Amino acid sequence: MEVGGIQALRAWRERRSGSVSLVPTMGALHSGHQALMDRARAAGDSVVTSIFVNPLQFGTDEDFFQYPRPFEADLEVCEAAGVDFVFAPALGEMYPGAPEVTVSSGRMGAVYEGAARPGHFDGVLTVVAKLFTLTAPDSAVFGLKDIQQFCLVKRMITDLNFDIELIGLPVVRDEDGLAMSSRNEYLAPADRSAALAIPRALDAAAQAAEDGAPIGVEAAAEAVLSVAAGRGDLDLGYLGLVDAATFQPCSLDFDGQALLLVSASVGGTHLIDNVPLEFHRSS
Ligand code: PAF
Repeated sequence: MEVGGIQALRAWRERRSGSVSLVPTMGALHSGHQALMDRARAAGDSVVTSIFVNPLQFGTDEDFFQYPRPFEADLEVCEAAGVDFVFAPALGEMYPGAPEVTVSSGRMGAVYEGAARPGHFDGVLTVVAKLFTLTAPDSAVFGLKDIQQFCLVKRMITDLNFDIELIGLPVVRDEDGLAMSSRNEYLAPADRSAALAIPRALDAAAQAAEDGAPIGVEAAAEAVLSVAAGRGDLDLGYLGLVDAATFQPCSLDFDGQALLLVSASVGGTHLIDNVPLEFHRSS
């Protein structure tokens, strides 16, 4: 396994023949990332994992400086996952100065997570576009936990003509049901138990939809709120039921594949989760 910055990546890329699959990360790797790397292994002849904590996607009041950076442990995870190249550029290499030209995530990036974190998705798409340009991958693997990010990257690939196959991997959960996230490290045991209201509520909503309940965003909100009730330590952020194809709110007679999105803050830690819901109202 090679590890390096931009120059080393370019040299490696020139030497390398066959297809390349990219797994973009900010490090603090857990088994969710490992699943992404396994998927990339199946998709390409070589796997590149990038480890870069991207300042552009953090708000001024967010955790950029506190974000966990266990680099040596991350390299071990990559090695065990059979990664061929770990792209770990220095901050100054990626951004020699504040960039003047960036990618705009448009209206799709201004709702839900984008409304809660203004500028976040412009920062994400800008760094992902840079990673795509530098790595020139044939495919890229992203987790579906960050579903709005996934939908935006998909849209950017179309709108900016990147010739890259986008692969989404279903949310990887811990045994207790909590979606894996590098930020789970911040949760004290009591926070973690409060956070479990999120997957439980999503489960309840998914079950109701499966049973044919005419679930709309209000009913879904009720399911989430009833599970979250009494958890004073859990602050619900947004809740949305959107069309998976457009990320627009579902109409009341929506038919097809939808996504139920939720964000909550637990003990000051921002968590997000989602569940796909299938509606067949006309049948
Ligand atoms: O999902 C993440 O870890 C980040 O948003 C990404 C895609 C690596 C861009 O910094």
